[in-house]
Amino acid sequence: MRFQGKRVLVTGAASGIGRATAILFASEGARVTIADLNAEGLEATAAKMISRPDIVPYDAADVASCRALVATAAEEGLDVLCNIAGILKWGPTLEFSEDDFARILAINTTSVFTMCKAALPHLIKSKGIIVNTASTAALQGIAYTVAYAASKHGVAAITKSLAIEFASKGVRINAICPGHVNTPMGNAAPPPGDVDWGLVMRNAPKLVDGSCEPEDVAEMFAFLASDQARKVTGALFTIDGGQLAG
Ligand SMILES: NC(=O)c1ccc[n+]([C@@H]2O[C@H](COP(=O)([O-])OP(=O)(O)OC[C@H]3O[C@@H](n4cnc5c(N)ncnc54)[C@H](O)[C@@H]3O)[C@@H](O)[C@H]2O)c1
Repeated sequence: MRFQGKRVLVTGAASGIGRATAILFASEGARVTIADLNAEGLEATAAKMISRPDIVPYDAADVASCRALVATAAEEGLDVLCNIAGILKWGPTLEFSEDDFARILAINTTSVFTMCKAALPHLIKSKGIIVNTASTAALQGIAYTVAYAASKHGVAAITKSLAIEFASKGVRINAICPGHVNTPMGNAAPPPGDVDWGLVMRNAPKLVDGSCEPEDVAEMFAFLASDQARKVTGALFTIDGGQLAG
């Protein structure tokens, strides 16, 4: 029960990693607000949680919506923010539109900035914690994945920069860099077009059965948000079955 009475906001909680993280925090005593674009998915997540969460549909692409979400979740204070909402679209770069590039940056990167900025005044009061979701695509280039990799490199930069700026205020800020995770995003159909699978498979995990389950990643969110990680800030934690080992 590491989070007894703690107030935790989890975005992207209608599916995958966000859902598993919300379930885990609730199981350890947290009072959880779950948020996502997908209101139906949020209800399905709530049904799996040990305690009834506060449910807030919102749109990460919309700055006002992000700010309103944080204001609602932090009405009685906020201890932990888990930024997990995100989208992936990939494919041959010469066929990739600027509109898709901009949307990926808005949802994966700008929203993380907005959420952190809105939450930080509350987290300074509580000596709280932010855990962002980057990716192995934050740490290396990935063919056909220019927009997503740019968006996640941005999350890594936001995480490290904020960690330095807010360390003296007692707020810890880290990011998790998963490799392949067994979620709707992780298992999305490959893009149409001319793809060299040799380049794509450079990103295969090394462990036998090295793909992660959402619950594996949720454990890392809980660790980083716990006192066990009290000396950890500005760090990018890979959980990738050895993908980036070489
Ligand atoms: N699955 C993987 O292999 C993998 C690997 C590395 C990083 N990640 C990251 O993990 C995070 C969670 O992904 P997942 O694998 O659980 O995928 P998922 O598709 O299961 O969940 C993503 C959630 O984000 C929500 N979302 C999308 N756009 C939104 C918006 N505009 N506003 C609010 N919510 C929105 C979706 O509705 C969905 O519930 C993402 O940031 C993703 O980039 C995933």
